[in-house]
Amino acid sequence: MDDITFARALHVLAIVHWIGGVSFVTLTLLPGLTHSAPAAQRLDLFEMIEGRFAFQARISTLLAGATGFYMTHRLDAWARFAEPRYWWMHAMTAIWAIFTIVLFVAEPLFLHRWFRERAMRDPDGTFRIVQRLHIVLMTASLVTVAGAVLGAHGAPF
Ligand code: HEM
Repeated sequence: MDDITFARALHVLAIVHWIGGVSFVTLTLLPGLTHSAPAAQRLDLFEMIEGRFAFQARISTLLAGATGFYMTHRLDAWARFAEPRYWWMHAMTAIWAIFTIVLFVAEPLFLHRWFRERAMRDPDGTFRIVQRLHIVLMTASLVTVAGAVLGAHGAPF
């Protein structure tokens, strides 16, 4: 087994943990809390459960980025970023950049505070916005996963 294969396995493991977690929050946790938890408890429950995942997602995001850039370097694949048929390379980098900014910059700086304050005033409206944003990010991530597997295994886009 060479180093690229090893990096690929770590890359996919990181993606499974990270995008799988995003799917769980989007399809199970948020709808479950919205329908079953009283508004007063919803915020604390969400922050307790999602906060644990956000910490883990920081690690899997770092691992996915490190292995992704390592593979790009070892495959000497930088020129792909100049070719539209490698849209899935752009998609991977864009999804990674969005999550990195949200997890490492926006959340600690202002997103967490904004969410708490807004959810105390208007729990239903705030959870609706958060649910919609999660659906958009999850859908884009899953399209990217499918595009990357197809593209990496020779699909003629
Ligand atoms: C900095 C960000 C990233 C970079 C630079 C990157 C780079 C790469 C590279 C170079 C490959 C190997 C392509 C090949 O063998 O031709 C790859 C594979 C892959 N990446 Fe990424 N990636 C990044 C983030 C992501 C993200 C965010 C996702 C998912 C949303 C993702 C999902 C995948 C998948 C599913 C594969 C295919 C594995 C396989 O079937 O062999 N990557 N990535």
